[in-house]
Amino acid sequence: MKADHDTGPATFDFLSVITSRHCKRAFLDRPVSREVLERVLTAAAHAPSPRNTQFWQVAVLTGEARAALSQRLCAASESPEQYEQDYSNQPSPMGATYEQRAFDWGAAFYGAMGINRADSASRRDFERRNLNFYGAPVAMIFHLPRNAVAGTFLEMGLFLQNVMLGLVASGLGSCPQYSVTRYADVIRDFLGLGADRLVVCTLSVGHVDESASINRFYPRRATLSEYTQWHDQAPSATAPSAGTA
Ligand SMILES: Cc1cc2nc3c(=O)[nH]c(=O)nc-3n(C[C@H](O)[C@H](O)[C@H](O)COP(=O)(O)O)c2cc1C
Repeated sequence: MKADHDTGPATFDFLSVITSRHCKRAFLDRPVSREVLERVLTAAAHAPSPRNTQFWQVAVLTGEARAALSQRLCAASESPEQYEQDYSNQPSPMGATYEQRAFDWGAAFYGAMGINRADSASRRDFERRNLNFYGAPVAMIFHLPRNAVAGTFLEMGLFLQNVMLGLVASGLGSCPQYSVTRYADVIRDFLGLGADRLVVCTLSVGHVDESASINRFYPRRATLSEYTQWHDQAPSATAPSAGTA
């Protein structure tokens, strides 16, 4: 069967699209064409899903809608009301290796952003930057049915990654955001979504401000041997079983 999109000639090395995707947190004041977004979202929906369920839904906000949601989010963050995410995004406890990685990332990231984590004013400023979608002209909201299970999140992740890679291939940048979903109730109310929808994350999207140093922050990755185990022999009955740290 013919693909329902024009793939065009392979003018780029796909692995370099993957490795060049890093979060972008400063954007140019330049609109993104709807046509480009439609192309990316159409291609992204080629992500696999169990029995082709395609549970993902995405709201795309631009212009006044994006500005108005930002305003509502900032107002909520300043109100005394308590808000919380629909789900947790990390296991508890994380384990020493992962705690260490998160700690190292935090120290490097907040340093690069010029944010002193001990200073509540600068932490609030960072939250506002998130709620303002880092100044991006496009904000996407990814949501699932409330009864989503681990496998549903997995398929959303495949879709989300396709979106981010499609944006890179289209000359755009993005930043996925869990922090914003603390105000899931505000987002649902704004979008007219029922309580039966679960807000997974938001995505700030736009033309990258290459002059911003934060856009050159590339957190290091674990090496191949830290996350890959190769097996080419059947395990012998007497061998001790392998355990992970
Ligand atoms: C589901 C998800 C939620 C995230 N939430 C936030 C967020 O709220 N704010 C933010 O600035 N970055 C957020 N990030 C970005 C991560 O910090 C980033 O992907 C990680 O540090 C690796 O950096 P890189 O993507 O630039 O390579 C999130 C990433 C993912 C996948």
